[in-house]
Amino acid sequence: MAWNAELYKEKHAFVFQYGNSLVEWLEPKEGEKILDLGCGTGELTAQLAAAGAQVIGLDSSAAMIASAKNHFPDVKFVVADATSFTLPEKFDAVFSSAVLHWIRQKEKVLDRIYQHLVPGGRLVLEMGGKGNVDDIIGALDKAMQKHGYTYKPIWYFPSVGEYTSLLEEYDFRVNQVQYFDRETELADPENGIIEWIRMFGDHIFEEVPAADQEIILQEAQESLRATNFRNGKWYTKYVRLRIKAERIEPAEEKDL
Ligand code: BEZ
Repeated sequence: MAWNAELYKEKHAFVFQYGNSLVEWLEPKEGEKILDLGCGTGELTAQLAAAGAQVIGLDSSAAMIASAKNHFPDVKFVVADATSFTLPEKFDAVFSSAVLHWIRQKEKVLDRIYQHLVPGGRLVLEMGGKGNVDDIIGALDKAMQKHGYTYKPIWYFPSVGEYTSLLEEYDFRVNQVQYFDRETELADPENGIIEWIRMFGDHIFEEVPAADQEIILQEAQESLRATNFRNGKWYTKYVRLRIKAERIEPAEEKDL
């Protein structure tokens, strides 16, 4: 997925603005080493740095990291893949906001996080949970089928049970979980649904010619007008999964 960092900041800033309250779950402390995994344009990384932590922001998008470095020159950022990164240091905490649902190789990323945490180090994450943006996906699926295309899921929106089990399998102790709906106002009052799909879901259309893409986008948006458009604004139903966990050592798991 090729990211347009400026469009992301301009029209989809709610993604990192909602991350502010996730920082409260992390409770960053002065001098702590923190890795911001999937830092995007770096706003939350800079917030962690301002709290006195020694932060590194990591993202696989060179465009996002270029924007982050440009806006926050005093903060350290690296371009790396969350499923394969190796950094020389270990961290007191890994923080990840609105990123893990992009990574279908979920086992690999948890392995990387575990290997980069000190024993007892914490993982604080928010991602889309089961049912996230179901309204948009359902509308797209229907419109694509009508025109002879198949919608292929690309995001990973796990249930509480699925993701906490996975964390336990990878030697994390799950300390706090919240699963909740977050009705989200979309930035563009005229074409909120279309612009959201263009920003985040262009890969859905890899095999669809441009003319058909336009028709599908229009039809998907129109099919949501009765439910998702109110008082001149478009909304979608985000479902969030927040988790605070810590790295444990395999020996600690043994039943007594
Ligand atoms: C999310 O933050 O839940 C999300 C954002 C873009 C695409 C899919 C999910």
